[in-house]
Amino acid sequence: MRVLHVLPVASLALLLCLWASPTIATSYVLCPSADETITEESPCPTECYSDTQCESNASLCCPTSNCGRQCLAGVTVPHTPPVVACLYADPDTVGTCAEFCSSDSDCVVDGEICCPNSCGHTCTSGTPVTPICRVILESRNGTQPRIGEYVPQCDGEGRFAEAQCHGSTGYCWCVRPDTGEPVGTAISRQPQCNNCSHNGQVNYPGDTFPNDCNTCTCFEDGSFACTEIGCGH
Ligand SMILES: *[C@@H]1O[C@H](CO)[C@@H](O)[C@H](O)[C@H]1NC(C)=O
Ligand SMILES: *[C@@H]1O[C@H](CO)[C@@H](O)[C@H](O)[C@H]1NC(C)=O
Ligand SMILES: *[C@@H]1O[C@H](CO)[C@@H](O)[C@H](O)[C@H]1NC(C)=O
Repeated sequence: MRVLHVLPVASLALLLCLWASPTIATSYVLCPSADETITEESPCPTECYSDTQCESNASLCCPTSNCGRQCLAGVTVPHTPPVVACLYADPDTVGTCAEFCSSDSDCVVDGEICCPNSCGHTCTSGTPVTPICRVILESRNGTQPRIGEYVPQCDGEGRFAEAQCHGSTGYCWCVRPDTGEPVGTAISRQPQCNNCSHNGQVNYPGDTFPNDCNTCTCFEDGSFACTEIGCGH
C-alpha cells in the first residue's frame, strides 16, 4: 500500500458531524484478470505459490487462465480513503478547554482530525461517515473529474457500487460496498463481483468467517469452503 494523493472532502450537513476530514488516499496493487493472461504455449504455468517468491518488479503471484500461477506486475487501483467526521461534542459538558489544534493539518497522526471537545479542540480519530460514497461525491460538488482521475461510483443507497471502474483506463475491480476497499485479487474490464452469503451475513472474497466451530473462506466466484472439524454436538 502506498500513499497516492490527498483527497479533499468538504463539510457535511449531518447532525452529528461538524466537518469531514481530508484523509490520505491509498492504493492497492491487484493481479490482472486471468482472462488477460492466457498464453497459447503454456496454458498452466505454475512458477509461484505466493507473492514472497516473486521479484519486486513482478511482485504478485497471480492466477493465470484459471489453472496456473505466475509472477506478474500488478495493476494499481486507487482506494478511496475512509471519511471520518468529528462526533458531536456537547458544549454543556465539562471538558478540557485547551486548544491542542486549530485545524486538521495540526494533527500529525495519520487519519486524526481536529475535533471540538466541549470547550477546546483536540486531535482524535473521528468516526467513520456513512454512506461514504455519497459523502465523497457530494463533497465534489459537481466538479468534473480531471483526466485520469478516479471518481468512485455509488449505488442508490450512497454506498460504493460493487464494481468500481477507472474512467480513463477502463479497468474495473470489485470492492466492499461499505468501505470501497478492493476485494478479491483480479481487475478486469468486466468484473463479476460476487459475495458469499451465509446465515444472513454477507462475506466478500478473501474473507474468512465462522460456521459453528469451523472456519470458512469466501472465493472470488462467490462459493466458499469450510474446514470440516466435527464440532461435537
Ligand atoms: C525485472 O527487473 C529485472 C532487472 O532489472 C529485469 O531483468 C527483468 O526483465 C524485469 N522483469 C520484468 C517482468 O519486468
Ligand atoms: C457548489 O457549487 C455551487 C454552484 O457552482 C456553488 O454556488 C456552491 O457555493 C458550491 N458549494 C460548495 C460547498 O462548494
Ligand atoms: C451479494 O451478491 C448477491 C448475488 O449476486 C447480490 O444480489 C447482492 O447485491 C450482493 N450483496 C452485496 C452487499 O454485495
